[in-house]
Parts: sequence; structure tokens; C-alpha cells
Amino acid sequence: MKQDTIIIFDFGSQYTRLISRRLREKNIFCDLVSPNIDPNFFKDRTIKGFILSGGPNSVFDNDSPKIPNWIMNLDVPILGICYGMQLIAQEFNGKVEEASNREYGNAILKIKKDSMLFNGIPPSNKVWMSHSDKIIKLPENFTAVAETNNTFCAAFEYKNIYGVQFHPEVDNTNLGDEILSNFAVNICGTKNDWTSQNFIQNSINQIKDEVGESNVICALSGGVDSSITATLIHKAIGSQLTSIFVNNGLLRKNEEDDVMNFLKKDLGLNVILADASKQFLEKLKNISDPEKKRKIIGAEFINVFEKESKKINNVKFLAQGTLYSDVVESALIKDGHQVVIKSHHNVGGLPEKMNLKLIEPLRLLFKDEVREIGKELGINNKVIGRHPFPGPGLAIRIMGDVTEKKLELLREADHIFIDEIKKANLYDEIWQAFAVLTNTQSVGVMGDNRTYQNCVAIRAVNSKDAMTADWSKIPYDVLSKISSRIINEVNGVNRVVYDITSKPPSTIEWE
Ligand code: XMP
Repeated sequence: MKQDTIIIFDFGSQYTRLISRRLREKNIFCDLVSPNIDPNFFKDRTIKGFILSGGPNSVFDNDSPKIPNWIMNLDVPILGICYGMQLIAQEFNGKVEEASNREYGNAILKIKKDSMLFNGIPPSNKVWMSHSDKIIKLPENFTAVAETNNTFCAAFEYKNIYGVQFHPEVDNTNLGDEILSNFAVNICGTKNDWTSQNFIQNSINQIKDEVGESNVICALSGGVDSSITATLIHKAIGSQLTSIFVNNGLLRKNEEDDVMNFLKKDLGLNVILADASKQFLEKLKNISDPEKKRKIIGAEFINVFEKESKKINNVKFLAQGTLYSDVVESALIKDGHQVVIKSHHNVGGLPEKMNLKLIEPLRLLFKDEVREIGKELGINNKVIGRHPFPGPGLAIRIMGDVTEKKLELLREADHIFIDEIKKANLYDEIWQAFAVLTNTQSVGVMGDNRTYQNCVAIRAVNSKDAMTADWSKIPYDVLSKISSRIINEVNGVNRVVYDITSKPPSTIEWE
């Protein structure tokens, strides 16, 4: 069964994200996407309605974003909000006027005519306005259903097309969530069944249907996304799922044991450990260029994974923990071309090479929703809250070539850093924290002796989605403890520096 979806087109208003939040709070599934999205992106959904968001542009700007043509042929309800409403007015030959002054703040909406959009809303209702242009002549056959002191047309409708000049998504609009829910549920007929429990049950049913008697393999990293993916699939098909955990030799201290224990004992998964550390390090010998390192690791991963999975019979599917943020960026179209191409497959190339179909049960979810699903599945909080760790592992945290000796040093420094931020109760507040082995040596003095040793950088960032990040303001006394422990306990380090750059301009990882 396809997922009912309300599609929100983002025309750039600062409030757009709130539309999706309000709908999801009402258990309504929605997608927030660019108007340039390729319609094929939705081929596995049932589109129930479109919302055109507000935006900073004027419909009079030459390059202002337009309503995507393809939605007009679908006969699916449309709701335009602010700029979205003005776009509809223009599309249907109404008249929009450029206003010299902006209407900003509260207004009283007076509902003049019965409308499904305002079911249960008082005839006089406080709403939030933030616009300049306004509609001065309705398109033919449209009806103005509400007004304010400032405009005769604060809401209009025609058949299944609706528009509101105000912002129902902001808190300052009284009962705005009810107005959005009236549109999505009563007008569009969307089911409001988007809850963690339903998501889990639906996913299990879908996976069972799709997989049948075949076998599935999953590349597990021990991280949140792949662990939750495997747990869901395991619940659906049990022993038909085999997970493979590849030790690429670039893991953190104790990581292999910790992850294997957790996957086998806590989650009860059937996991194969492929220890390929020697072969990865061999391939990385004398390689310093970051992109080369990444490519070598990616290619080697595919080799190991393919070899291991050939030991399992009747494999037809590959499971991945792809999230919504990974897929949405891959589907932007401008002038008929894809504009953002991000290879989101952690095991990129494998499905084609091995002729496997992909199962990506989390592909509609944001990270915070994935964490909710994890909690619902009973996955330990420690795992759900784990900081992200990149596929290429410590190799992209060692500047220059990667050697066993450098890995050992970095593992120790990283372990101390994480240990101290956990002790200071900072781990859960921080998005990601780690140590980096720079390729800088510097002079120091220890006891009475001159030293010439390595400089370790520590990095901690706060972020919501890793797209942007700010450096974490770890208290000085904690930083001081971390620094002295690293210097005292890790041989070969005589200097520790704290990275105080945000993203952008830096990235989170150093390579
Ligand atoms: P950057 O360094 O681009 O990182 O700011 C953003 C987030 O992505 C993680 N990252 C990766 N994750 N494979 C992954 O699975 C990779 O190759 C990779 N590179 C970066 C990074 O740790 C941060 O959370």
C-alpha cells in the first residue's frame, strides 16, 4: 500500500518548515520539497494534496518561482499560503497588486462564507499576516470566503483549490493547525495515521510482502540508521536477514567488540563479522590525498561485502539505512536536469553490481523521527543517541597517510576525549565529537627534555542535520582536563588544539 502524502512546495518562507511540523504533529504524512523536484520522486506515494508555501518573492519578479506545471493536471486539492495564494491568483488570471507597505502582525479573520477549510473555526479568528503584495481582483469563479480589515480576500476557494493570505502554520494564528488539518484530512482525504507504531507495523507488512521467500543482506555499521533498519527487517522476516559488519581497520577503540555485542546480544541479529582490516590498510599504504582515501575505502568495502554476501544463498535484496534528507537532495530538477546529485548509498555501486533490489525502510523519515522509531522498537538509548561516524572512519581523521601506529595514537586520544565529555554530561548535547591527528609536529618541553611530537585537534559541533554546524562551547575546565589527559596518556602527542570553526566555511570532518 502506498503512503498517503501531502506535498508542500517550499517557496522560501521562513515559516515553511512549520507547515510540515504542524501536519506531522497531527499524524499526517507530508513531504517538504523544492518546486523543482522531479515528479518521479513521488512514484511510490499516493499524492493527496499540495500546499504552496509562502515566500520572500513577489509574483512580479521575473525569476520568481512558479507553480510546477505538472500539479495542475492531477485534479488533487491545492492550498496556497500567502505567496502560494498569490501564485494561484495569477495562474487563474486574477489581479495581484504590488503593495508599498507590508502587512505584518496579527489581524482578525472574519469568515464570510461556509468553507470546509474553516470547519470548527470561530467566525472571528486571530491570524498572523506577513505579506506585501495582495489580491485586488479575484480570478473568475473564485469566491472570497474570509476578509480582514486590510483585505476583502484573506481566503478564497474554487472547486478544490484554496488560498489563504495569512500563515496558518505559525503559533500566532489561532487554530492554525486545525485549518491545515481541515485541508489535509477533510478536503484531501489523507489518513492521519502517521505514528511510530503504525509506521513500524506498515513497514513490517510491506517488507514481508516484498521479500517473500528471498533472503536480504544488510551492511551494518553499528550506527543508529543501519541498526534500526536491520531491526525493522529482522522483525519482519527473521532469519531471512543476514547482516554483515565489516571491520575496515579504521574503527575506534573497542568498536568491533562493542558493536558486535550490541548487534548480536541486544538486537538479536544474525551478523557476520568480516575482518578485513589488513587488506584495507594495505590498500591505503602511502596514500595521503583525502579523495583517494575515500575512493579506495569505498571500492574495498564493495569487494569485501560482495565476497561475504556470496556465501549466502538466494539473496535478492540489499537493505540500507537511507534517510529522507539523503534522498530529497538527489531529486531536484532545474531546466530539465538534475541539479544536485549526491551519492547517498553508503554501499554505492553494490546493488547494480550484484543485481540486488534495495530496501530502504527509513527513506521517508527525518533523523529525529528515526530516533523515535528506534525508541519504539526498544533500542537502547545509548545507541539511539550515538554520534554519527563516517563510513571511511578514522582514515579521514588522520591527515596524510594512514598507518597502524597513527591509528593507535588517534584511537587513544579520541577515547579520552569522548570519555571526558561523557563524564561532564555533554555527550548528548553535542551532535558529534572526535579527535583528529593532524600532520603537524611541534616543539614542546616535557620534564627537562625538548620534544618534537604530534599535534592532536579535537572537534565538537552542535547541529540539527549536519548540513550546518556550530562549534560546541565546551567549558574551559573540561577542555583543560581533556588536553592534559591526552598529553599524559597518549605517547607521541605534545600539543592539543580545539577546532573553533563552524560549518560553513569548514566541514565537520577534516577530510
Ligand atoms: P561533513 O564533514 O561533510 O560531514 O561536514 C557531515 C556529516 O557526514 C558525516 N560524513 C560521512 N558519513 N560516509 C558517511 O557515512 C562518509 O563518507 C562521510 N563523510 C562525512 C560526518 O561525520 C558528519 O556527520
